[in-house]
Amino acid sequence: MIFITSNEGKFREAKALAEKFSIEIEWLRMEYEEPQGFELEEIAKRSAEIIANRIKEPFFIEDSGLFIEALKGFPGPYSSYVFKTIGNEGILKLMAGIENRKAYFKAVIAYFDGSKIRTFDGVVYGEIALEIRGEKGFGFDPIFLYGRQTFAEMGEEKNLVSHRRIALEKFFSSIKGEF
Ligand code: IMP
Repeated sequence: MIFITSNEGKFREAKALAEKFSIEIEWLRMEYEEPQGFELEEIAKRSAEIIANRIKEPFFIEDSGLFIEALKGFPGPYSSYVFKTIGNEGILKLMAGIENRKAYFKAVIAYFDGSKIRTFDGVVYGEIALEIRGEKGFGFDPIFLYGRQTFAEMGEEKNLVSHRRIALEKFFSSIKGEF
């Protein structure tokens, strides 16, 4: 089965976990245009439909984002763009003076089994930190507090509790019997 992503970190994480389920995955490094939509599920599903027109064998993709309660779920599906533009500093500025710092990361996997598409999701709850902390990880990890540490301070431990891990576990346990 193929994992289509341009993010090597996502692939390595998925490969290591897949091995525990005796599932072999290959990496297809491919950029694809994400359709605009309001829900991650919809974006992931539509992206998979577009790719399924070209690739006929089983594959999956993953789409994720950070949802901040006080900002009504922003940046959510726009996380990638917001990270590239205003970044962690920008989010901290938007959150200045705001007491409610609750946030969550969500990941959605869309899996094409050769005929139809199924989705699996994972969510991890935390808070937006008051400052940038930690050097590990990527994206919004340095401002996402999980307990007392940010994801960027946790390193590999993050991968045991992350939204991606939860979605991947649901996905691999669901298809285990099919491979
Ligand atoms: P995409 O799923 O590759 O479109 O990524 C969405 C964006 O959400 C990324 O560019 C990151 O900024 C952010 N993001 C998703 N998952 C994580 C994570 O585990 N840690 C930090 N940022 C994340």
